[in-house]
Amino acid sequence: MEINKPLIIANWKSNQAFDQVVDWFGVIGPNVPGNIELVVCPPSIWLKPIRDLINQKSFNVKVGAQDISKFSIGPYTGELPADLARGVIDCCIIGHSERRQLFGETSADLLDKFNHLSRNGITPIYFLDTSQIEELKPIANSDLVVAYEPIEAIGSGNAQPVEEVRIAVEKIKQIAHESRVLYGGSVDENNLLNYLSLEDLEGALVGTASLDSSQFLTLLEKASSLSK
Ligand code: PGA
Repeated sequence: MEINKPLIIANWKSNQAFDQVVDWFGVIGPNVPGNIELVVCPPSIWLKPIRDLINQKSFNVKVGAQDISKFSIGPYTGELPADLARGVIDCCIIGHSERRQLFGETSADLLDKFNHLSRNGITPIYFLDTSQIEELKPIANSDLVVAYEPIEAIGSGNAQPVEEVRIAVEKIKQIAHESRVLYGGSVDENNLLNYLSLEDLEGALVGTASLDSSQFLTLLEKASSLSK
């Protein structure tokens, strides 16, 4: 099946020193297939240098943050407000299970984050597992990207069986029918096409397999082979 412009999001989490960032872009930057939409979500310290690099070299890559403040500009030590990130980032992950579990992020926090991103014209990439699908009700629209990630599949090497992903995506689409839906959880260059072949799935979220540039380039080339 052919799909239009698969969206691939590389979530580096707390990885990649700056020399690794430079090496990675040396391999990936000039070679991103034109029929792929690629977003890189680096540690926040690299957002601006990566934005500058992409602009300077005209790479076909968008920049995403891994989180954003639930507050606006003001006395919030350690926080990155959307009002300041605007112009540097194109999109932003919110609600990753690691943030929900390790940093106590709640659905109320996520709604605040969503609103700050929307107000600043930054595309929200809303992460959830099946028990959180209802959270989409107040926010689902055509600008939203939904990343379905079953917790047990994340970083485990055990990607969820395709049929289970299909069922979850169908449920998400019932609420967020205009939003693009991605799958994440141990996606790599060998299993990617199984997921991209699902009718309602418009891309993938890649953690571990996005860190190594040659492995990730293979993955992008596979995604490209499905696209128009
Ligand atoms: P993984 O991570 O590809 O290493 O499973 C995905 C994610 O949690 O973003």
